[in-house]
Amino acid sequence: MSKTLITSALPYVNGVPHLGHMVGCLLPSDVYARFMRMMGNEVLYICGTDEHGTPSEVGAAKEGMDIGEYCTKYHNRHKEAYAAFNLSFDYFGRTSSPQNQELVYHIFEQLDKNGCIEEKTIKQIYSVDDGRFLPDRYVTGTCPHCGYDKARGDQCENCTKVLEPTELINPRSTISGSTNLEIRETRHLFLKLPMLEKRLSEWVRSKEPFWPDVAYSIAQKWLKEGLQERCITRDLKWGFPVNKPGFEDKVFYVWFDAPIGYIGITKQWADQNPSVRSWKDWWLDAKDVNYVEFMGKDNVPFHSISFPATLLGTGENWTLVDYLKGMSYLTFEGGKFSKSEKRGIFAEDAVKEYPADYWRYWLMSNAPEGSDASFSFELFASVINKDLNGVLGNFVSRVLKMTASKIGEEVPAGGEDTEIETALIKVLQERTDDYIKYMKDLEFRKALNELRAIWVEGNNYISAAEPWTVIKENPERAAAILRTCINLIRIFAVLSAPVMPQTAESMLQRLGLRAENMPSLNGFNVKKEISALKPGQKFSVGEALFERITPERVEELKAKYGSSK
Ligand code: MF3
Ligand code: ZN
Repeated sequence: MSKTLITSALPYVNGVPHLGHMVGCLLPSDVYARFMRMMGNEVLYICGTDEHGTPSEVGAAKEGMDIGEYCTKYHNRHKEAYAAFNLSFDYFGRTSSPQNQELVYHIFEQLDKNGCIEEKTIKQIYSVDDGRFLPDRYVTGTCPHCGYDKARGDQCENCTKVLEPTELINPRSTISGSTNLEIRETRHLFLKLPMLEKRLSEWVRSKEPFWPDVAYSIAQKWLKEGLQERCITRDLKWGFPVNKPGFEDKVFYVWFDAPIGYIGITKQWADQNPSVRSWKDWWLDAKDVNYVEFMGKDNVPFHSISFPATLLGTGENWTLVDYLKGMSYLTFEGGKFSKSEKRGIFAEDAVKEYPADYWRYWLMSNAPEGSDASFSFELFASVINKDLNGVLGNFVSRVLKMTASKIGEEVPAGGEDTEIETALIKVLQERTDDYIKYMKDLEFRKALNELRAIWVEGNNYISAAEPWTVIKENPERAAAILRTCINLIRIFAVLSAPVMPQTAESMLQRLGLRAENMPSLNGFNVKKEISALKPGQKFSVGEALFERITPERVEELKAKYGSSK
């Protein structure tokens, strides 16, 4: 069995996730993890909250909370929201854990020992009124690239360019709003990326056949422009204190300790679950690990350049990413998701309106893969009504109701298959093979297209075979058709399970089956599976699988969650 390590970019602990975050890395990574498990791989799926840095300090100050308590509060909110979306992490940890601290210290010591760390005096913004340095988000100002006037010192939210606080035009303190700022000197530690450039570019080049174009070209662009030394320490209180004499009053930069968090969180998981593999089996001198990372596209440089360089610089044999899936953005009703402007639907609210599977299906079939995608409640309603209610839900209820009323609540016996079934098996096998291939290749939109097409084949089959007419003349043949249809429900449930786990379970339950006993997707054989359910097996009709979303509900949701400006 081969080992698949899957990580989703660690969400900043401050704030709560909205649909854009869900589809930006969390949900696709979950669908992939579920799929890979069903393919028979040993999967370790890791995520957690990214807790250090200025975002948390700023957030805690705003709420007047102790920063540790603030992080715990929001860590739990993230955890609950993801559980409600049925994300199947093996572990959801925290970058502030002692395990992560231990790893950050070890990796830093290795880098320092190997001469990859340099001390430099740099100029930083100092706020006289606040009596402190203002790194990263502690400075707000106008973006020198796009003119956006609320750009933060680390990155412009509008044009996504990575910034230095000193580049901002009209800078002001995020804490007090004060413009009484000075440039002062301070000593910091830098990771000597230029020293690692050769090894890094060889490694990136070796990935060319495997990385999607976007990721590969972003990495190449950075390498071509030449790598700069990166400051990995900050004048902050919240973070891991630097383990080097003379720097104890500084902390590591959040982008230094956050990706190491993938490893730290694995160790957190292993420490709490003594029966599982050692974390090293996944990360250090690990054999047969295929490592797949998911992230938003703004995270690609950190994952394709700085993090691998950090690990390479240790001289140790750490697991490096094999495949990197960078997602584009989801917009909301034609604008940005904005917490402050109360526009956008948050994960925890979404599941109060409709079950998680509605969102999971919509988001995955409209995943912002090649380019950005846009969410609107109209589009949401139309996809749910057409695909889920109209195609899948309709097929399931039609088949079960008809069989129950004409024959009884069990899989019917008797009758022969004809060439219609042979043709059905052929087309379903082709589509299933494509579906599995696209999932393997992490081409989610294409995979979901195939999944929908597979359900449509069910409706086409029943329309062509017409059991309701056939039953009058040839009840045996009608029994055979309905038996095939009931088996299709099982096949649809199995194939849909990575995307819609609850719906799959509910479909299987009606057939008296359990989700734990699903067949493997590896080598999924339609011909075999289509007669898996034998005559006499009891079923229950159950409630409709999905609810139609009415135009009135759409209006209600738009009013509640804000529409375009
Ligand atoms: N917190 C970052 C973000 O939301 C992602 C960190 S990914 C990690 O953009 F690898 F650094 F953890
Ligand atoms: Zn900008």
